[in-house]
Amino acid sequence: MRSVYVNGEWVDEDKATVSVFDRGFLMADGVYEVTTVIDGKLIDLPGHAARLFRSLAELDMAAPVDAPTLEALHREAVARNGIVFGRVYLQVTRGNPGDRDFAFPDPATTKPTFVLFTQVTGSPEDNADAKRGLSVITVPDIRWGRRDIKTVQLLYPAMGKMMAKAANADDAWFVEDGLVTEGTSNNAWIVKGGRIVTRALSHDILHGITRAAVMRYAAEAQMEVEERSFTVEEAKAADEAFITSASAFVTPVISIDGVALGTGKPGPVASRLREIYIDESRKAAR
Ligand code: PDD
Repeated sequence: MRSVYVNGEWVDEDKATVSVFDRGFLMADGVYEVTTVIDGKLIDLPGHAARLFRSLAELDMAAPVDAPTLEALHREAVARNGIVFGRVYLQVTRGNPGDRDFAFPDPATTKPTFVLFTQVTGSPEDNADAKRGLSVITVPDIRWGRRDIKTVQLLYPAMGKMMAKAANADDAWFVEDGLVTEGTSNNAWIVKGGRIVTRALSHDILHGITRAAVMRYAAEAQMEVEERSFTVEEAKAADEAFITSASAFVTPVISIDGVALGTGKPGPVASRLREIYIDESRKAAR
């Protein structure tokens, strides 16, 4: 039984509740973060915390706690639940104003709802997806225009995953104006002739914390990264592709819309970046 955090208290998961009037529930008026735990330590919590505070500020939503308290709660979640490999999920909503109304409630009287819980995963080394490589399909990106804010509006990403499942694929990449934006819950990358390409940061994609780390590690390893948009055709003609996210780390993509990339197996660049990312993250985890 997990111990989860709800508005200032640690409770057993089956006792954890929020109101039917919570704006997260009624309006998806909330933001979240997912931080990975390796060896019982957190990977880049400062990065996730900074993005959380930015998401909140962009939506004019009050922060429930300051950065040191956020860190203490993450550590407590890991400790209370004995997490060695897993994740800490956190969600902040605009709270429960006691009724349904489109207008934002007065933050002086309606406090944000703040929940935090853990999930258990395997170790990054024995990950079947990474060994096999993922198949992705492309689907239109019909999400809203502020994808840089990590909101809980995840209906379309969930639908994207279901479309992938229906097509016997592992995941979907979103496409807008012929250009790949990102994966349903990850950033998208391709490799051609040794050059690594990923879309530049804007309101069109989530500014991945893993993406930023991979950019850093790639530069240190003298690997060239170009930040620019790429078409679906360019992706299908690539030597390799991969995705990055807190939960997937770096995971190779081996086919797009049924078109095999390169040898049809996880490529050397993606595999090397996965190794580097896991090694460096382990060293830097706190
Ligand atoms: N997803 N793009 C989208 C749309 C995402 O939802 C995510 C993260 C990313 C990668 O961001 P990061 O590297 O900071 O995890 C990109 C999380 C893991 C999730 O929804 O579970």
